[in-house]
Amino acid sequence: MKLRSVAAALSVVSSSILFAAPDEAALREKVAALLAQMSTEEKIGQLVQYSAPGAETGPATRRNVEAEIAAGRVGSILNAIGVEQTRHYQKIAVEQTRLKIPLIFGYDVIHGYQTIFPINLAQAASWDLAAIENSERIAAIEASAAGIHWTFAPMVDIARDPRWGRVMEGSGEDPFLGSAIARARVRGFQGDDLTNPESLLACVKHFAAYGAAQAGRDYNTTDVPEIVLRDVYFPPFQAALEAGVGTFMAAFNDLNGVPASASKFLMTDVLRKEWGFDGFVVSDWTSIRELLPHGIAADEPEAALLAFNAGVDMDMESRLYLPHLPALVESGAVPMSRLDEAVTAILLAKARLGLFEDPYRGTSEEREKQAMLRPEHLEAARDLARKSAVLLKNERSTLPLRKDAKIALVGQLADTQRDLIGEWRARGREEDAVTVRTALEKAYPGRVTYALGAKSMGDDRSGFAAAVAAAKKSDVVVAVLGEGWFLSGEASSRSSIKIPGVQAELLAELRKTGKPVVLVLFAGRPLALANVLDHVDALLLAWLPGTMGGPAIVDLLSGAFSPSGKLPMTFPRNVGQVPIFYNHRATGRPFDPAKGPDKWKSQYLDVPNTPQFPFGFGLSYTTFKYSDARVASPTLDANGNQRISVTVKNTGRVEAAEVVQLYLRDVAGSVTRPVRELKGFERITLKPGESREIVFTLKPQDLAFHRTDMSFKPEPGKFEVFVGPDSTAPKIGEFTYRDPAQN
Ligand code: BGC
Repeated sequence: MKLRSVAAALSVVSSSILFAAPDEAALREKVAALLAQMSTEEKIGQLVQYSAPGAETGPATRRNVEAEIAAGRVGSILNAIGVEQTRHYQKIAVEQTRLKIPLIFGYDVIHGYQTIFPINLAQAASWDLAAIENSERIAAIEASAAGIHWTFAPMVDIARDPRWGRVMEGSGEDPFLGSAIARARVRGFQGDDLTNPESLLACVKHFAAYGAAQAGRDYNTTDVPEIVLRDVYFPPFQAALEAGVGTFMAAFNDLNGVPASASKFLMTDVLRKEWGFDGFVVSDWTSIRELLPHGIAADEPEAALLAFNAGVDMDMESRLYLPHLPALVESGAVPMSRLDEAVTAILLAKARLGLFEDPYRGTSEEREKQAMLRPEHLEAARDLARKSAVLLKNERSTLPLRKDAKIALVGQLADTQRDLIGEWRARGREEDAVTVRTALEKAYPGRVTYALGAKSMGDDRSGFAAAVAAAKKSDVVVAVLGEGWFLSGEASSRSSIKIPGVQAELLAELRKTGKPVVLVLFAGRPLALANVLDHVDALLLAWLPGTMGGPAIVDLLSGAFSPSGKLPMTFPRNVGQVPIFYNHRATGRPFDPAKGPDKWKSQYLDVPNTPQFPFGFGLSYTTFKYSDARVASPTLDANGNQRISVTVKNTGRVEAAEVVQLYLRDVAGSVTRPVRELKGFERITLKPGESREIVFTLKPQDLAFHRTDMSFKPEPGKFEVFVGPDSTAPKIGEFTYRDPAQN
């Protein structure tokens, strides 16, 4: 038997307590009374989720959804669009079914609903938790006004392989940053009170280790040792739970030989028993049916049985619970108590959302219209896009652009609205998105010459000449190149992570003009940039920046704002280095470049071990000086805390934000430990000449990790401390952790 994770048990409070409306006990009574009236068929109906026809987000079979709802055979609908459709379906549920139980409407509100924020990976580069939380608040206001109750977000899968297209949906490679962002997103969606009609129930996904897909190929197998699951992949899920997340989504992947959607270990032993979760788990799209091709279920009834008894409560589009659970309950293979537990959790979620009081949650066409694209929503999207962009190179202060610069603007992505809003755009409309071209022409009237140059895909070079001609008659080239929206997201893995098509060749041609070249890079993942870095003087990573991407990028190009984003994922030199992440464990033969060549160390023959750009990295238009870095005490005791401080000064000429980062290394443990781990960060904005002291306080629990018996605690010994602007921060001191009980 596995030892229960002590920290998890202590820190995770049952979600019912966290978002308990004052009348939680009354809700439970009401749900119990309702359950007592339900037939087995009506109970099973609550476990069924269908997509609204025509808006499927996976392989689908059409059916008459209205008739199914009226027969009481549906508990939830996903992908219903807008007030008209959600009210239509709800009316059937509450007027035509025997028990009048309202539907819960789910939707993928991933990085905005109609106001589209930068993709999630980009948002993570802001390290701005308040701005991220606010983006989800806005998403909740818009989506709830359209009749949505429940978002399939946050996606918190740790991802260390940029080939995987879904890295765009998460917060990158680090569990500490990922956990902080998971909390912020849940708070943003759910607010303090789910009965507030402007809140959304959140669904943390995909439980678990979906991001570890072998070779970065979507839906692929994962093999993750339990100790890594617990130290790396679980923490953001636990963080979401601490923040009160109401639901979990089971992942598609096979994890160590058991598909997540049939994993009793994940859904029951860890989630319910260890962590005390009392919400419900929804499958991923057809993930229960996929137990057949996974080869773990011989037939449909077995797939239903495995998933349901493992703890997957709601069936998203597999269409297996409805036909097969009745006989399984009848035979006793599925205990009635298990069915009651699942139905209770779903009904409680509906009750907490206030759906039994008002199944329409105050929606109207007027409210829907008023909620979307409000000026403050667009401003927040612009702000987050500015904060998300990462300045990766800026030779000879090429950026910001001079006010009187004549600019050659090149590249398809400068001029396409669809690419700005990326994958999972919910109800985001491309016609609302403002391009770099539109924004730049407005900011530099009469000074911008646009030339396509090349499309983002394909091998057509016929536009090169016009782009080069435009460059020649301008002072500076701004090339907006990279990945179009369709190259990242679900089912969009790549084996090459280079800039696609002939765009790199175009850059080389532009370079030959001798004009300074600025690359504004669109990307849904870390890219290998070795073949373009030499051709550019400046490189601003814009990601896929959302509805207000154009104006945000121009704010940065013009110097109205200084870039402040920091990479949430390592950028490799080439795809052969993948997986590459800063917090890898130590090897027995570590290569130290400072000591010179040594054949018998862990290294490549053809590329350095170091990445192109490390985790946490990003430049600014100003400079920051770090000084007086101190570790307050040479020791930290079991009941004490440690104070680590540093003074940061803006030594340049413009106001800018910096993300101050704290890393630790546990020098020797009972298991090998990462070479360093992020343990704190603070984003600060400083005026020129201004300085500030930053103080991090560490507690013993911050040093804890899982040992081979899966216990979770800090071990006595030496810890090295690193503080600085990225994950290569210098060592500033060390301390010893002491615990008499363990000595
Ligand atoms: C994705 C989920 C998503 C669901 C519903 C699936 O294919 O993996 O993340 O929530 O579809 O759209």
